[in-house]
Amino acid sequence: MDPQVLVIFGASGDLAHRKLIPALYALYKGKFLPENFAVLGVSRTSYSDDGFRKEAFLDNPHLNGDEKDEGFAKMLFYQEIDTLAKEDYKKVRGRLTEIDETQKTGGNYIFYLSVPPSLYPKVPAYLAEQGLNNSENGWKRLVIEKPFGYDLDSARSLNKELQQYFDEDQIYRIDHYLGKETVQNLLVTRFANGIFEPLWNRNYIHHIEITAAENIGVGKRGGYYDHSGALRDMVQNHLLQVVAHVAMEPPTTADAASIRNEKLKLFQSIRPIGESEVEKFAIRGQYIGASIEGERAPGYREEEGVDKDSTTETYVALKFFIDNWRWADVPFYIRTGKRLPTKATEIVVYFKSPPHHLFRSELDLMNMNNQLIIRVQPDEGILLKFGMKVPGAGFKVKNVGMDFHYSDLTKATVPEAYQRLIIDVMKGDATLYARGDSVEVAWKFVDPILNAWKNQENIKLYGYPAGTWGPEVANKLIEGDNVSWRNPCSNLTDSGDYRLL
Ligand code: BG6
Repeated sequence: MDPQVLVIFGASGDLAHRKLIPALYALYKGKFLPENFAVLGVSRTSYSDDGFRKEAFLDNPHLNGDEKDEGFAKMLFYQEIDTLAKEDYKKVRGRLTEIDETQKTGGNYIFYLSVPPSLYPKVPAYLAEQGLNNSENGWKRLVIEKPFGYDLDSARSLNKELQQYFDEDQIYRIDHYLGKETVQNLLVTRFANGIFEPLWNRNYIHHIEITAAENIGVGKRGGYYDHSGALRDMVQNHLLQVVAHVAMEPPTTADAASIRNEKLKLFQSIRPIGESEVEKFAIRGQYIGASIEGERAPGYREEEGVDKDSTTETYVALKFFIDNWRWADVPFYIRTGKRLPTKATEIVVYFKSPPHHLFRSELDLMNMNNQLIIRVQPDEGILLKFGMKVPGAGFKVKNVGMDFHYSDLTKATVPEAYQRLIIDVMKGDATLYARGDSVEVAWKFVDPILNAWKNQENIKLYGYPAGTWGPEVANKLIEGDNVSWRNPCSNLTDSGDYRLL
């Protein structure tokens, strides 16, 4: 791998401490980092190099229990700047030249923006002013975290602003779901096996469901979340990316351009939900205070940083269609929420029932017996459900499962998403990063729903008690007898009432 410097803007912040430094240290221990490598932390806080090493690494609570290797500490450097003062970027350039000389890092730089979104256009502009976007003497790459805009218009302007200073192929937009081993494995499950892909279409699949449940509330992120909501926070990015992996056409090759082209095509095929249809296709909810296993969990409006009359959704369930040859008429259902009974993300593919019911007395059981459940997290793995004859007289059919768990691979540990994403940007592989055009198309899908929620007061916001599976009406989105969402784990609450807010 090329020698290089990873420059982290916002190095004293939470993301750097919680995710970036631990991921880098794991890569260091695994000997994945290039021989000539340095991290330059940049932010407003005043630290010496040693002070930063202590704060971000030696005393980092997210690395508790890890033995700290001095070799890694020596790779860390720090530069204090006022991120909003453009003349301060001279200091960054000066520091990088110094590091290039001492660490032999060859002028190859990654600029990782772990800063508030309002700074996204500023930092690249100021870097460009110092020539730090110019790849002539060593490559330059820019990494940004979501949110990539607040709606379609702001996403478009952000892309334009970024692309004014950096070429699209220098820009790496992180969606940490794409770094998850199990999300990547969706492509392998589909395209490296002869048994699934022939069935992976409207002829054999009845519907597909994706659930991303979280049992935590918004915690200390109320201030951010109240201006975001579940649709922006989870659906526009993570869940639509998962949908793309489940539903895209096979790419011609496994490189970044082919895969990202197929994903774009898929996003373009999602049938828009018009503002007038939002009530029919989208359910929004907000958690209300409830007692969970004897302890009181606060309602969303009681959380720190949240408006007391907030109408921000903490739960969303959507039904939509993909208008292409493969998926015509196959409903897709996705839902996500905070304060649900458990933390689990999974995809359930429901196959159609056999065309002729031979075992008539067991008709109920024959109803969509075949499900493929792909578990993104936790207990990552795959479960295939099918009907089997109960031993004995007659033809009694029972549903059984065949399962694979990643934990059975004793020698393999599932790496944390950030490790994979960081190593990819170091190598210059953008496959697992979101491309600007896809981000815009995903906003295009989400925008009418957001507009309808904002402008149509008659659209209900359902309250659901913390610790339950969200508003009951979400079950009605799924058509058909005996079909409802598959809940990854049992309901832990002692309260089951559903109220309108
Ligand atoms: C983040 C959201 O992008 O993803 C959070 O902002 C959410 O609200 C998180 O909790 C979920 O990620 P994971 O990896 O825990 O499923």
